[in-house]
Amino acid sequence: DGGPFERGASAGGSTGRLLRSQAHLPAPFTVPLPVPPVLKPVRSDGAADHYEITQRAAAVEILPGLQTEIWGYDGRFPGPTIESRRGRRTVVTHRNTLAVPTVVHLHGGKTPAEHDGYPTDVIRPGGAAKEYVYPLDQPAATLWYHDHRMDFTGPQVYRGLAGFHLVRDDEEEALPLPKGEREIPLLIGDRAFAADGSLRYPALDPALRDRPGVEEAYRDGVLGDVILVNGAPWPRMAVSAARYRLRFLNGSNARRYRLALDPPPPSGPAFVQIGSDAGLLPAPAGHARIDIAPAERFDVVVDFSAYPVGTKVRLANEFGEGNLSHVMRFDVVRKAADDSRVPSRLVAAEPVSRRDAVANRKFLFGRGVGGHGEHRQAMWTVNGKPFDTRRADARVRLGTTEVWRIIADVHHPVHLHLAHFQILSRNGRGPRATDRGWKDTIDLGGSEVAEILVRFTGYRGRYVMHCHNLEHEDMMMMSNFDVV
Ligand code: C2O
Ligand code: CU
Repeated sequence: DGGPFERGASAGGSTGRLLRSQAHLPAPFTVPLPVPPVLKPVRSDGAADHYEITQRAAAVEILPGLQTEIWGYDGRFPGPTIESRRGRRTVVTHRNTLAVPTVVHLHGGKTPAEHDGYPTDVIRPGGAAKEYVYPLDQPAATLWYHDHRMDFTGPQVYRGLAGFHLVRDDEEEALPLPKGEREIPLLIGDRAFAADGSLRYPALDPALRDRPGVEEAYRDGVLGDVILVNGAPWPRMAVSAARYRLRFLNGSNARRYRLALDPPPPSGPAFVQIGSDAGLLPAPAGHARIDIAPAERFDVVVDFSAYPVGTKVRLANEFGEGNLSHVMRFDVVRKAADDSRVPSRLVAAEPVSRRDAVANRKFLFGRGVGGHGEHRQAMWTVNGKPFDTRRADARVRLGTTEVWRIIADVHHPVHLHLAHFQILSRNGRGPRATDRGWKDTIDLGGSEVAEILVRFTGYRGRYVMHCHNLEHEDMMMMSNFDVV
């Protein structure tokens, strides 16, 4: 047989293999939803807010009654949420007390290259520290920070090294959107657990090594059979009959979700999208369902006043079966006053057009071969080449715009550091309804071709583009571009 793994191809085209848990799992919707705490600066001065985070191992209760060892920012999964004001410099000192090197990348951030978390720019284990400086001269958005160590991002993020970093600005604050307790970041991620509660992951589990199927699982992507939201299995949350702003982040290694509400609201769309990866949309957009690939963010408003008090509204995953068809549940428990609304204009649109492009490039995300001699093996490549820190596959000029055609053999969520983009087309047709806005990650299906309009603003230096299926990334599906 194929060992402990099952093919995960039914999971909405995610490439990956399903790893089953051996631990006793709770019934869905029994554990309350945790919300990660907002980190306080250790010091603020005229120039910056300073934060300190210790990366450490910790035992936490994820499955009721069992302890799971995680690697977490401040020992938490998700890590504490950092909140920054646009243009206010944020300095985060990360101390690595883990037994392995780490790298921190602020995903979606416009960050100078030396602070961007280049895959080989590690913080040594055993107590070394690095100061990451984030200018955050960019609009309000849902960013996240996570580990990015070359070849080991999959296992290190799986173990818990991920958290939210929200950017706020005056323009957003002036909008009457839901705020405070009605604005909730939701990190969705799948995991599998051994009988003792420890996380199962192929490369880290000596008992699993050399079992048939493990290599393939590692190469395809790892899918777990437990869906966690903010680190809790299929949680539930009591809500008022009011509007809520939900910031969805798919923090999974390889799983895609098709989010929907069950029951759908009797009137109006389930989700009113107000923001994409990189910030608010010019105008809101209603969706009945949202496909979300690893690393994508969708900032939405859900109006629970459309439901009678007493309704239990399941956040469903239409790509999954059985327990994998559940994400979490919202229980509408009380009536409440609500003066929030979603205005028909959110932020000023920044006009960009294909005519602004000064170059066209093509990148094929597909299988290939890497290594030398007897170590040659199948890997994931970009334009047929595995990642090499010494080779840049594009030189782009700071301040210019380019059209990039990205082609995928199987499903690959493709992410660019530094540069944000708009999706121009898919397979020669227009973008999906959920493609609008500035993005940093595009969800590409098998045999799909998309054109993106990329704007290279910010900083000079070497940055990466890669597949955000973290096992693909670790299997070399990454490429450098130099901003000159
Ligand atoms: Cu979210 Cu290069 O990563
Ligand atoms: Cu991929």
